[in-house]
Amino acid sequence: MAVSLKGRSLVSLKDFSTEEILEIIRTADTLKLERLRGQTHHLLAGKTLAMIFQKPSLRTRVSFEAGMTQLGGHAIYLAPSDISLGKRETTEDIAQVLSRYCDVIMARVFGHDIVVDLAKYATVPVINGLSDEEHPCQVLADLQTIYEKKGTLAGLKLAYVGDGNNMTHSLMYGCARVGMHMTAVTPPGYGPLDRVTAEAAAIGKENGCRIEATTDIAAGVAGADAVYTDVWASMGMEAEAADRAKKFKAYRVDEKLMAHADSKALVLHCLPAHYDEEIAYGVTRSPNSAIFDEAENRLHAQKALMVLLAAGR
Ligand code: CP
Ligand code: NVA
Repeated sequence: MAVSLKGRSLVSLKDFSTEEILEIIRTADTLKLERLRGQTHHLLAGKTLAMIFQKPSLRTRVSFEAGMTQLGGHAIYLAPSDISLGKRETTEDIAQVLSRYCDVIMARVFGHDIVVDLAKYATVPVINGLSDEEHPCQVLADLQTIYEKKGTLAGLKLAYVGDGNNMTHSLMYGCARVGMHMTAVTPPGYGPLDRVTAEAAAIGKENGCRIEATTDIAAGVAGADAVYTDVWASMGMEAEAADRAKKFKAYRVDEKLMAHADSKALVLHCLPAHYDEEIAYGVTRSPNSAIFDEAENRLHAQKALMVLLAAGR
């Protein structure tokens, strides 16, 4: 039976099956190709996306808004001060009210429970545009990028190096679903949540791949087909930045660290990047770097996601 995502919300990639994730990537590829050929695809004409932001954004805001325009719909940006989520009004009421006006809600929030609650109380699909715990939209774009560059996903190995954060968690779930081995390589005390590692490892086992966490750089990066990193202090953790910069130094993705990976290993980063902190500038400008392809694919992957959730196939 064909996959149908109509009416669903995307809070975490752990809730989507392998086939559902692959369907989003296939749809994203089709929409990307059509756009390249200059074809218009107004699949969401007359539909409205509400975008709630508690944190700053370049890629998420612009790719969702541009994506909705390209699909013939409209996007409304709600800045942190516009609705003061949880202060001026409850998450439950916001979800109910926005559902009366809009066809999809995207939210970038601090607490993961906020996006869980939005999805619980909204009667339209809710998309997690980043929470303290997960960033599933980024991983859809990352998987699309890896597939474009490597021609496959299952059986590859991704090494994530740096802070065990929202990116790490979503990568763990995403890799587990598509059968990619993944090792999260972090300084001691900064690993991903044990609960997430255990859940992702169990999903991975069903799909023939290993999802692991380690502090050992050489072992964790050995033979990787893709090396991924992210900022050492995520949004909301700015006060810890200086302390983390000292503790994370050995985990910088530079030429020396890349030497442990496969010689054709992709270099991936969700951006924004702090050059010469978590990643050497030169590595991001090497022929194997796909950082701007990932950023571009946010547009295509999210268009596919919105089409599948809001319009069906
Ligand atoms: N990668 C990403 O989500 O970027 P923004 O924070 O700029 O949206
Ligand atoms: N871990 C980062 C991701 C930014 C896209 C953060 O949450 O700030």
